[in-house]
Amino acid sequence: MNNSSVPFADLHAQYLTIKDGIDTAIADVIRTSAFIRGPYVERFESEFSVAVGAKHCVSCGNGTDSLYIAMHSLGIKPGDQVITTAHSWISTSETIAQAGGEVVFCDTDALSYTIDPAQIESKITSRTVGIVPVHLFGQPADMDAIMAIARKHKLWVVEDCAQAHLARYKGRLVGSFGDAASYSFYPGKNLGAMGDAGAITTNDEGLAKRMAMFARHGGLKKGDHQIEGINSRLDGLQAAVLSVKLPHLTSWTRKRQQVAARYDALLAETPGVTCPITLSGREHVYHLYVIQHEQRDSLAQHLNERGIQTVISYPVALPFLPCYSRLGHRPEDFPNAYRNQSRILSIPIFPEMTDGQIIAVAAAISEFAV
Ligand SMILES: Cc1ncc(COP(=O)(O)O)c(C=O)c1O
Repeated sequence: MNNSSVPFADLHAQYLTIKDGIDTAIADVIRTSAFIRGPYVERFESEFSVAVGAKHCVSCGNGTDSLYIAMHSLGIKPGDQVITTAHSWISTSETIAQAGGEVVFCDTDALSYTIDPAQIESKITSRTVGIVPVHLFGQPADMDAIMAIARKHKLWVVEDCAQAHLARYKGRLVGSFGDAASYSFYPGKNLGAMGDAGAITTNDEGLAKRMAMFARHGGLKKGDHQIEGINSRLDGLQAAVLSVKLPHLTSWTRKRQQVAARYDALLAETPGVTCPITLSGREHVYHLYVIQHEQRDSLAQHLNERGIQTVISYPVALPFLPCYSRLGHRPEDFPNAYRNQSRILSIPIFPEMTDGQIIAVAAAISEFAV
């Protein structure tokens, strides 16, 4: 790496800002051997439900499980169809099949990368049971339109909030619109553990109970297996880490937004670069700052040669992945997702980013453009 190198994210820099709290919390868990369930897990579940304004929080092993647990507990039957976006991480769609359903993809709208509600209704059939919108990159999906369709057709909604902790739609926190909301605390997420971790939130007590049972071998008490379930647990060490980090989430989010605003200003006039657009009424929490460029791969290589790490989220839109070849989708079925997959590039963004790092990234991008 040279002088201007910038990592994509810097988890160690974040750790150093809260080192004492993290080290103490980890030592406490080890001292009390509260590795599975116990006080640290219960505490985080209650703190997180307060933070996101939900009545119940069911923690689990990771964000993928959180989607699976939610959809399974909503009672998907074989043949049921679930509509989701063409642009997301594979967890969003693979868990629909895991839960027993069939995925039906919808294109994204041209500006926000989130599911285009205008297209959802045309995909609804007598077999449709639910919708999984994703608040992709940290920008809320159009929840008013999505909830109106869900109410009209009596569909459940599971919000995939893996990239959007504390994002708001018309002033209201994401995750508070649908029947349930799933979260990932993968280390690089806006709220990240030091390993795998996830949670589902809901205001529905019955659903919360079914999800908790399913995640814990089908029972809430040892030996009491009401149903067959799975083993998906947030462990005590991760819960303790998350409790130390949670109070910082608001200020970390603000810093992400400041970095994004700085990029917006520095890159506004850069030829060939399209900066992210936040639609009105939406508060973007910038899990990722995603630009577009016609020569995306050459730009990524140019940045890489200067020690600036980038990521493509994601190089192939979901319907075009080999695992969905059975659906026989063509580029014209999802023109926005298809077009974007070869143009998008996520550039470094993290709360601890220095102004020097932001300037170095923007300068390297501008240098490519000329
Ligand atoms: C949109 C989305 N959904 C679900 C997940 C799954 O989370 P996890 O990696 O914790 O299983 C992720 C994580 O990358 C994600 O970005």
